[in-house]
Amino acid sequence: MEKKWWQKSVVYQIYPRSFQDSNGDGIGDLKGITKRLPYVKELGADVIWLSPVYQSPNDDNGYDISDYQAIMTEFGTMEDFDEMLDCAHSLGLKIVMDLVVNHTSDEHAWFRSARSGKDSPYRDFYIWRDPKNGGEPNNWGSCFGGSAWEYDEASGQYFLHLFSKKQPDLNWDNPAVRDAVFDMMDWWLRKGIDGFRMDVISLISKPAGLPDGDAGSGPYAPFSVSANGPHIHDYLQEMNRRVLSRYDIMTVGETPGLTIEEAGRFSNLDGRELSMCFQFEHTSLDEDPVRGRYGFGSLVLTELKENLSKWQYGLEGRAWNSLYWDNHDQPRIVSRWGNDSAEWREKSAKMLATCLHMMKGTPYVYQGEELGMTNYPWENLGQINDIESLGNVRSLMERGLLTEEEAVEVMRRQSRDNARTPMQWDASENAGFTEGTPWLPVNPAFREINAAEQTGREDSVFNYYRKLIALRKQYDIIAYGRYELLESEDPDLFIYTRELGGEKLLVVCNFTEKERVWQIPEEFADGEILITNDERTSAADAVIRPYESFVIYMITAPKV
Ligand code: GLC
Ligand code: CA
Repeated sequence: MEKKWWQKSVVYQIYPRSFQDSNGDGIGDLKGITKRLPYVKELGADVIWLSPVYQSPNDDNGYDISDYQAIMTEFGTMEDFDEMLDCAHSLGLKIVMDLVVNHTSDEHAWFRSARSGKDSPYRDFYIWRDPKNGGEPNNWGSCFGGSAWEYDEASGQYFLHLFSKKQPDLNWDNPAVRDAVFDMMDWWLRKGIDGFRMDVISLISKPAGLPDGDAGSGPYAPFSVSANGPHIHDYLQEMNRRVLSRYDIMTVGETPGLTIEEAGRFSNLDGRELSMCFQFEHTSLDEDPVRGRYGFGSLVLTELKENLSKWQYGLEGRAWNSLYWDNHDQPRIVSRWGNDSAEWREKSAKMLATCLHMMKGTPYVYQGEELGMTNYPWENLGQINDIESLGNVRSLMERGLLTEEEAVEVMRRQSRDNARTPMQWDASENAGFTEGTPWLPVNPAFREINAAEQTGREDSVFNYYRKLIALRKQYDIIAYGRYELLESEDPDLFIYTRELGGEKLLVVCNFTEKERVWQIPEEFADGEILITNDERTSAADAVIRPYESFVIYMITAPKV
């Protein structure tokens, strides 16, 4: 296998709106990011994925783009962008941009023209259909609740929007759309950016005839019908030939509906399409059987082990993995699958980090995860900005599946806004994020949980992440070793090994508050403890303490 730089990288995701404000308007911006680049450098990540910074009316916080080649006014100017990019490069940090091309904003010039009438040259940039039996052309639901179709009075046709009605889907079957998107991508790459994270890219090729989805599959019907459509790989291979392959860059596809089979195409090691993909299966494991994501499900550890192991085994030697717990669409992992009580927050955050960062693939750290930031204690729906959780919770309430009180509880567990509250830099007012009024409230935990307190403290979550990242740079086995799950039936412990040549790693993570006894295998008895979130000094100690995690390194055969 040919080695690539991004296989040893760790990516740090920045959600610009919530990272650092520089002018007191309460909204994070590019100058703020530039100021904080040394922080990312200190952590040791080497790639930054920047959530969208393009011109946008912000119906979905920048994921609805009205001009791909302009910067959102609130975030600054193109000069600010260039300065940020230069500054990142001079620190040895790469910048990967979000590419949102399944849809545009309805305020994009293409859509304004398309909407002006059937003979617009841009009409066919989007997906229009006549009504069927006087109603929607098919039964697809929007991922944000309600129908995926919006009626256009003037022309008597509907247009498709898999997300909000201000996010009309582009028609990728039209070669002119592909030309326009590829030109735009090329423009950014010539500027010197280092790659793209491709938003819901598995949805771009719609099935011929747009057939009805399975009636039982709820609001997400479009994922089951339109993920991995008939021409998806043709379009990505064309993109790769015409654009990506001409640069030394990293690409990651956000791919709802990904299977091992499909990952073997999207992110094959032959490099014909993308570098890697995000799969979503593990983030659905705590779904509620009735209400889906916006309910009260809980995680069963054996299912998580089975699922993550399936991806580790399935992609071995075939495709490259990406590893993540958090991003701007997920609640905070320490609140979700760790324990955010004062007693266990730091220790369980470190355990979760160990579990993920010792696997094979490129790890992603979402801003604040490296501090063990927690979910927000939402008190009412009026505080929520997130269009996805609001849309879905409202439709569950209409169907009598959630009371208002339960809906608020669901927000505390699942809303995307848990990830989007401002970054907690220090213990000063508004956590050092802004001198104005923050666009989303700062989590009241900021006086205890903030970067200033953690960067200087040896045993902080921040310094633990720093160490994990440094280990990945130092040991090839962490990037390239073969994975094997141990004790698949154990309900509390997640244990696995990695192996490369004559080296082996043992990774042990206790996901519970229980003390457990587990005898470390003989072959690791003389191993070196690479990292521990407890005070472990020996492999002989069989007591695995609550939320304990550690990694043992062993040379099993001399290097040849
Ligand atoms: C992706 C983004 C999410 C956005 C959606 C529509 O899932 O990560 O934030 O709302 O696509 O663009
Ligand atoms: Ca600002």
